[in-house]
Amino acid sequence: MNTAFNFIDLIIKKRDNKTLTTDEINYFVKCAVDKDFPDYQISSMLMAMFLNGLDNRETADLTMAMTNSGEILDLSPIEGIKVDKHSTGGVADTTTLILAPLAASCGLPVVKMSGKGLGHTGGTIDKLDSIPGFNTEISSSDAIRLVKKNNIVIMGQTQNLAPADKKLYSIRDVTGTVESIPLIASSILSKKIAAGCDALVLDVKCGNGAFMKDFNSAMELAKTMVDIGESVKKKVIAVITDMNEPLGKNIGNSLEVMEAIEILKGKAEGRLKEVALELGAYMLILGNICATKEEARTKLEENIKNGKGIEKLKELIISQNGNPEIINNYSLLSLSSCKKEIISEQSGYISYMDTYNIGKAASETGAGRKTKDDKIDYGAGIILKHSLGDKIEKGDVIAEIYAKTKEKTENAAKILNSSIKISSEPFKTRKSILKVIGA
Ligand code: URA
Repeated sequence: MNTAFNFIDLIIKKRDNKTLTTDEINYFVKCAVDKDFPDYQISSMLMAMFLNGLDNRETADLTMAMTNSGEILDLSPIEGIKVDKHSTGGVADTTTLILAPLAASCGLPVVKMSGKGLGHTGGTIDKLDSIPGFNTEISSSDAIRLVKKNNIVIMGQTQNLAPADKKLYSIRDVTGTVESIPLIASSILSKKIAAGCDALVLDVKCGNGAFMKDFNSAMELAKTMVDIGESVKKKVIAVITDMNEPLGKNIGNSLEVMEAIEILKGKAEGRLKEVALELGAYMLILGNICATKEEARTKLEENIKNGKGIEKLKELIISQNGNPEIINNYSLLSLSSCKKEIISEQSGYISYMDTYNIGKAASETGAGRKTKDDKIDYGAGIILKHSLGDKIEKGDVIAEIYAKTKEKTENAAKILNSSIKISSEPFKTRKSILKVIGA
C-alpha cells in the first residue's frame, strides 16, 4: 500500500466531490485505527464522505478495508453455508431469538455474532444476558465447537472484530455523520464479513423508529448493501420491514425473551413472528436448505408446531451455561417490581406510535443504556397491550411499565403518553414486510 499520501490532500479531494482510489481509502482506514492520528482529520474526512457520498466501488473498498482492519473469523471447519442475519436496529425487535434456533433446527449452521443495545434500540446480547447464567463471551474456537455440536451459537462481538468500524462509528456518533448510506452500509457489512459469514440476510428497518425513516432511503440502503455484497462475493438479501410501531409487544430484555419463547412454543402470533419467519426463510434459502420461500416458511412453521424450535433454544441455553428452566418458568427471569399502567383516556383507534420515543421510554425504565458503560436492569421494560390500528375503549390499559423505582415508571409514562395517539377514525396499518431486494 502506498503510505505516502498527504491526508489533507485526501480530505480536499473528497471535499471537492472527487472519487478516492482503493489505495487512498485503505490509507484512510489505516490512519483511522492509528491511535496517534488526529481524530479531527478523520472527522473532517467523514463529513466530506457524508456530504458528497461514496460510489459503490469506494463503498466496497471501505467495507473491505474495515473488515481487514482486525480479526476475520474462519468458519471453514463448520460444514455448510454459514448464513448470518443483521437488523439495522429497531424497537422490540427480538427476531434473532426466534429465527436463530428455528433455522438451526431446520439444519442450518447458525453462528450469530450479536451486539448490545444502545440508545433507543435493544441488543440481542443484553436479552440473552438476562437469562440466568447465560454466557455470551465465547471465543472463536469455542463457537466452532458449539456449532459443530448443536448447530447454533450466539455470541458477543470478539474484541478485535473490525476495529476500524468501532473507531469510525464512535467518531460518527458525535460528529453528525451517522445517517449516511455508504457509511452505514460499510459499517454493517464490514462486521458481518469479518464474522465469517458466507451469505447474509439483512433486516432494513423503515419508519419512525429506524435510522431510515422513509421508504426511498431504506430502499437505497438495502440496494447499496446487496450490491456491495455482490462485489465482495457474498450473497446478500435485504428485507425492508416496517418500524412505524414496535415489532413485538414486549420491550425490555427478559420481557423480550419471554415473548420469543411464547412464539417458539406456538402460543403467540403477530408481526414479530411474521418478520422472524420471513427473515428465517431467506436464511434457509441462502443456506441451500430450502429451494423456495414457501417451502422454507412451511418448514419453519412445522418446527414451531413439532417443538423442534423451542428444543433448539433449550440446547442453546444449556450449551452456553444458561438455566433452561426459564422456558417453562418465567418467574426465573427478572421482572422489576414497580409497575404502572397507561390507561386510555378516550375511545378510538390507535393512529400513531412514535416508535423512537417508545424505545426511549423503555430505555428510561432501565432496560437500555444511554452510554455504552451504563448498567441495565434486565427486568425493566414495557408491555404494549395494543398495536397500531387497534380499536380501544376509554379506560383500557394501553401499556404496562416495569422499573425498579416509581420515579422511573413515571418518567417512562410521561414519554409513552405523548408517543401514542388515538383518533376517532379507523387507521389502516401498512404491512410488516415492505420489500425484498436481492432474492
Ligand atoms: N448499525 C451499524 O452497525 N452501523 C451503522 O453505521 C448504523 C447502524
